[in-house]
Order: sequence, then C-alpha cells, then structure tokens
Amino acid sequence: MIVFLNDKFVPLEKAKVSVFDRGFLFADGVYEFIRTYNNKLFEFEAHINRLKYSLNELKINFNDFDKIKDIILKLAVINNFTEKEFEVYIQITRGYQFPRKHNFNEDINPTVFIFLNESENLRDKLNKGVKVILEEDKRWNRCDIKSISLIPAVLAKTKALKSSAFESIFTKDNKILEGSHTNFFGVYKNEVYTAPLSNLILSGITRKVVIKLCRANNIKVNEEYIKLDELNFFEEFFITGTKTEITPVVQINDKLVNNGMPGKLTSIIQKYFYDYINSQRNSLT
Ligand SMILES: Cc1ncc(COP(=O)(O)O)c(C=O)c1O
Repeated sequence: MIVFLNDKFVPLEKAKVSVFDRGFLFADGVYEFIRTYNNKLFEFEAHINRLKYSLNELKINFNDFDKIKDIILKLAVINNFTEKEFEVYIQITRGYQFPRKHNFNEDINPTVFIFLNESENLRDKLNKGVKVILEEDKRWNRCDIKSISLIPAVLAKTKALKSSAFESIFTKDNKILEGSHTNFFGVYKNEVYTAPLSNLILSGITRKVVIKLCRANNIKVNEEYIKLDELNFFEEFFITGTKTEITPVVQINDKLVNNGMPGKLTSIIQKYFYDYINSQRNSLT
C-alpha cells in the first residue's frame, strides 16, 4: 500500500513520523474521513470545509487544500482503486516540535498523512437495525472540531461492542447529543428530531445531507434535543455517519424500539439517501 506523508508518496512500511510530532505527544491534530460512491468522492467540498474549520479553530498552519483532491486521485491510481469504492483518511497534525512543551510554535510545518482503504459494504448488516447504549458524555467542550483526541469515543465504542451494541450514544444533562462516531436522530409523529449544531456535537456531513433530503421531501426536521426523559415517546431512531450511512436503531440499552424493527420513516429517508447517492454519477473528480 502506498500512502501520502509530508509531500511524498511512500510505501506504508516507510511512512515514519517523529516521536516529537505533536500529534503523537499531544493528539494535537485533526482528521477527516471521506468515501466514494460510484467512483465519486461523496460531498467532498463539505468535508474539505469541515477540515478547514477544524484546522482554523486549532490554529494549525495548513493552506494546501487545493492539493488534497490531486493527492487522493494519485493515491487511487497508484493503489489500483480507480475502479473500486474506497475510503479516504486525512490527518493533519500541528507537526514536529522539539523539545516537548505544551505551547506551540507558530512557524512549525504540519504533518499531513493521507491513506485509502477499500470500502467495506456494511449496508446489508446494518440495515436490519442495531442496538445502541447510552453513555454519559465525558468528552471536551469542542466536539464541533474533528480532533484526533478521541479517547472518550474510543472507550465508549469499545464498551458498546462489549455490550453487544453497535454504538454508544452520548448524553449530557438530560439531552441526547450524538454517537461516538455518528449523529443521532429520532422520529415523533412523522417529524424528525436531532440535536442542534453547537460545540456539543460534530456537524456530520451525513446529518447535513439527511436534513436537506428530508426538507426537500416535506418531512419536517426539528434541530432540537431529544430529551432522555422523553425517549419513550419517540417511535423510531436512527444514526448517521459516512461509514454507517443511515442505520436504524432497534434497541436502546435493554429496551426494544418499534418491536425491534427498523422504522417506517427511517426506511423512507434511507431510500431518499440511496437515490441521492445514485444521482451523483460521475467519474473520480
Ligand atoms: C462524533 C461524531 N459525530 C458524528 C459523525 C458523523 O459524521 P459524518 O456524517 O461526517 O461522517 C462522526 C464521524 O466520524 C463523529 O465522529
């Protein structure tokens, strides 16, 4: 496998970063995760805009956004992915700084790492619906930044899998926020509810597409918190993410949702989503 690291295309075994990289010492960096559908990078601009936002909020010096697509396309060619669906991981850390100290120098060069993976098709597995567990949110107060500092999410996802669940959903002060790697939606009386954008959640690209598609099809979307003590009123739930797409939630902790079946409106929204993906027919550009 050939990866991109700091201006070079190198075999994975040769991709080395200094132990004084601030990404290694402080988790001082951000990332993005993009996928292709029909050989086209899905919502590429939106992902790049979110990357710019994350970098800007952390004051990481990186401006070569115009080069990212070319790097991805070159990686796709070198790794023989042009005819396959693939995923892109982009990580930008603040870079190397010696000696170790908390405060960063303004003039250091960021470390840029990009690699591709063949996409795994999870749709058949996930479309039956998944169990989620609720977990108190112990993350920092800037979940709007796609930071590589992911320990609470790592612990929460691991706990979910150990509890035979797919995802942990973070809650705070009676509010349901989002999953460890997904956004969370509920359906009540044929209207959709999801947490509003703020510092408490990541502005998911799939979330954005789902909201757009619902509104275009006259499904009302309320960007309002689903409250823990109102959970029982909701008829359906689903989670969204680049990898997870739109996945029905059929169990929360020990309680079945909709008798353990994917919800009706969830399936309709999924169909809008698949139609939207298939309308994006283009070459890898
Ligand atoms: C905390 C969190 N929320 C939501 C999402 C979903 O975002 P997207 O739809 O852009 O993949 C992710 C994706 O990794 C995430 O980490």
